[in-house]
Amino acid sequence: MSREHRAAEEQLCPYDAVQAAEALCGPVVLEPVTDRRGSAVWRAVGPNGAVAVKAGEGDGALVTAREGEVADRLGLLGTHGVSDGVAWLVTPWFDGPSTREVFAPVRAGDSDRAAVRAAAVDLCRAVADLHARGWVHADLQPEHAIHTKDGVRLIDLSWAWRPGFEPSEMFRGGIPHLLAPELAAAVVAGVRPAAPSPAAEVYTLAGVLWTCITGRWPLDYERAGLLPRELGAAGVREAIATGGIPLDADRPWPELQQLLEGALLAPAGERPTAAELAGQISDV
Ligand SMILES: Nc1ncnc2c1ncn2[C@@H]1O[C@H](COP(=O)(O)OP(=O)(O)OP(=O)(O)O)[C@@H](O)[C@H]1O
Ligand SMILES: [Mg+2]
Repeated sequence: MSREHRAAEEQLCPYDAVQAAEALCGPVVLEPVTDRRGSAVWRAVGPNGAVAVKAGEGDGALVTAREGEVADRLGLLGTHGVSDGVAWLVTPWFDGPSTREVFAPVRAGDSDRAAVRAAAVDLCRAVADLHARGWVHADLQPEHAIHTKDGVRLIDLSWAWRPGFEPSEMFRGGIPHLLAPELAAAVVAGVRPAAPSPAAEVYTLAGVLWTCITGRWPLDYERAGLLPRELGAAGVREAIATGGIPLDADRPWPELQQLLEGALLAPAGERPTAAELAGQISDV
């Protein structure tokens, strides 16, 4: 990495993280990707490859430090540390579109859906594989799966959970709009740490696919007389926990959405597993 570049990035990206990236990639150039809520991500590219570098400060430091521990436990290539109160993490960079990007043609009304359906199956299988290893991602989102040529890779592992490695007290179930009702109820009731489960994750998985199809959250708050913007995250969790919010009426892909509806409306004990959902979708 050139001296100029390092000077330009030094305040944001911890020096130790750059060193760790360079140990894997050779001299790197840092490309800023995101910077929000105390957490910043760069793509570090060098002659020997690319890695993702993430740094978290303030509350984000605890969250990023936990992600580093998860990456270790899952055996991801890379390293992590804390420098001057900033937690950082270096993991492989995954090339490919996110699930939301894969579904863009569907949202644009394109009728050729075979490849998109295959990608939906790939996502379900990646989640099923994680569950088979005893883990729950616990923060699935349309942007948290990357569809690479070697399969789907799940990212943003801060809240990933397995028995004996519980999420921190800060865990609130992940993105509220995709929260399973039983997990929302636990969070609302003040259970800490709120425990995600494979079944709750299948609800979220179905919600992710639904959102990728329609571009809208699965539940139609307005039809229940609620305005999510006024509710805030806590209010959305409470509304989901209470129930009675209908699914959004938009059905651009009725055959697939019917399956997702099954997963979204079933009580936790009757939801398909991620592997079963994969099977159902590949049979559509
Ligand atoms: N290993 C990776 N490979 C490819 N892209 C990545 C990788 N890690 C992060 N990204 C990109 O950076 C974005 C932000 O990463 P991530 O979700 O981990 O950060 P975050 O700060 O927790 O974001 P948020 O809090 O908004 O979810 C991702 O949506 C993705 O576009
Ligand atoms: Mg994220």
